[in-house]
Amino acid sequence: MGESGSGKSTLAKLLVRVWERNVSLVDGDVYLDGKEVLHIPEEEFRREIRWKKIAMVPQASMNALNPVIRIGDQMIEHCCYRELTGMKR
Ligand SMILES: Nc1ncnc2c1ncn2[C@@H]1O[C@H](COP(=O)(O)OP(=O)(O)O)[C@@H](O)[C@H]1O
Ligand SMILES: [Mg+2]
Repeated sequence: MGESGSGKSTLAKLLVRVWERNVSLVDGDVYLDGKEVLHIPEEEFRREIRWKKIAMVPQASMNALNPVIRIGDQMIEHCCYRELTGMKR
C-alpha cells in the first residue's frame, strides 16, 4: 500500500527479479520460507521460485505491455528473452 510513486511496483518487480537493466541493487535480502532468494542463481530462481512461489499481476495492461509495440512482438520477445539478450535472467 502507498501513494503513487512511493515504490510499490519497483518493490514488486524486485521480488520477482524482473527489474529494468539500468537498476542496480545496492543492499538487502529477500527471504521466502526462511530462505534468502534474492541472491540465488537466476536459473534456480526461474526454475523454483518465479511464477511458482512468487508472481506479480500488473494492475493494468498498460503497466505490462508497451503500447507502441505489437502485442505479438512483445510475446515473442518474452519467449526469446535469453536469445535476444544473452542474459541469464
Ligand atoms: N528504492 C528505490 N530507489 C530508487 N528509486 C526508486 C525506488 N523505488 C522506486 N523508485 C523510483 O520511484 C518511481 C516510482 O516508483 P514506482 O515503483 O513506479 O511507484 P508506485 O508503483 O508506487 O507508483 C520510479 O521512477 C522508480 O524507479
Ligand atoms: Mg505502480
